[in-house]
Amino acid sequence: MDTKWRQKLHLEPPVGWLNDPNGLCRFKGNYHIYFQYAPDDINGGVKKCWGHYRSPDMINWEFTGTVLVPDIPEDRDGVYSGSAIVKDGTLHLFYTGNVKEKGDYDYILSGRGANVIHVTTDDGHSMSEKRVVLRNADYPDYCSCHVRDPKLWEENGKYYMVLGARTRSDEGCVLIYESDDLDEWRFARKLSVPDFGYMWECPDMIEIDGRRFLGVSPQGLPHYDTRFQNLFSSGYFLLDDNGLRDFEEWDYGFDFYAPQTFAAPDGRRILIGWMGMGGASYTNPTAQLGLQHCLTLPRELTVSKDGNILQNPIRELENLRGGNIAVSDGERGQLALPFELVGSVKGSFDIDINSSVKLSYDGRMFRLEFTGESLGCGRDARNAKLEQCGDIRIIADLSSMEIYLDGGKKVLSTRFYPEGENVNLRANGIALKGWRLKGMEVHILGK
Ligand code: FRU
Repeated sequence: MDTKWRQKLHLEPPVGWLNDPNGLCRFKGNYHIYFQYAPDDINGGVKKCWGHYRSPDMINWEFTGTVLVPDIPEDRDGVYSGSAIVKDGTLHLFYTGNVKEKGDYDYILSGRGANVIHVTTDDGHSMSEKRVVLRNADYPDYCSCHVRDPKLWEENGKYYMVLGARTRSDEGCVLIYESDDLDEWRFARKLSVPDFGYMWECPDMIEIDGRRFLGVSPQGLPHYDTRFQNLFSSGYFLLDDNGLRDFEEWDYGFDFYAPQTFAAPDGRRILIGWMGMGGASYTNPTAQLGLQHCLTLPRELTVSKDGNILQNPIRELENLRGGNIAVSDGERGQLALPFELVGSVKGSFDIDINSSVKLSYDGRMFRLEFTGESLGCGRDARNAKLEQCGDIRIIADLSSMEIYLDGGKKVLSTRFYPEGENVNLRANGIALKGWRLKGMEVHILGK
């Protein structure tokens, strides 16, 4: 297969379509990343499967193949998103079995089934029989047919599951269930805020340093110049005794949605997102090469003094650093992809890439703008408000950029499609230095 635009630092499907990361965990000496996978449909379709990557160190990866496919009546139209939890030395996976009845339905209030299905695995790859633990009849009466994406966690010897949902009156919310044994689930409560989209997808209950956050990907928010600029949004609420508040977006770039977090054994909370956007007007020419989309870099989450989550690429990636590179202020340099560049911000600056992408900061706003048509494939501009910006860190792969600002306070992720493996970069008002990066090792073992 043509290797053009093939990523070297980001996990992609061997062929076909990828969306949400699923079942992130560490189990029996490996990290496991499952993902929404449609090997036979470059545009995704409904009949999603789970693909599976594993790695001892998040640098050397093995793709073991497609591990869950729609093969029972309760998941016949897609093995949708879900999560993993380890109990008694076994990995337990929970996902949504999607069902679309044939007929004249609106698929919102009727015609759709959303089952929570439980499977177990001892090696991360061979799956047990599937067992349905929740069906639409088990959800509260106010729910539409859209209830999905179970994310589990354990707390004080009890298990909890959060599900994303759309009510019959088009309110996005999450449902929380609890269980003593992972088999029997009881509805506990609903969490929502008024006027915040019609559907919340891929919820995630996240604890960092004793603070609790609820991650969600809401659909149907109004769009503004500096907020909710994408078709669908993704971010987190602070959750305390007063409920949900202070929604903040994870990422201000064009390509980010449906992230999931997990706790690494050393205590780090790590987030991985889908570097894509459903229904977006912009495109990905990798489709001509037989694949579409990738995951973001794994990001370590910490909480800043003022209570915001900071995101930074996991430190394992520093092992990929090769020779030094630099672009002085006012100069132009040719750089081979992939690379990492960092710079201290003194005031305003701008960075031009291939006379087609402009990254700029004016002291209060960071802007990522495609000034030429070809590199962005329909992407235009995204803004991130930032009253203060101490530094910028850019990680550029063969066809993507992740831009981390002010210690990870704001992040922007985008795909971009340069011709060739070098880019020309000019820096104005900032000096950048960094490293060429070696690629990750990725071995494809299965299909
Ligand atoms: C989010 C999502 C999930 C669903 C999955 C299907 O991107 O729509 O809600 O489970 O993708 O692929």
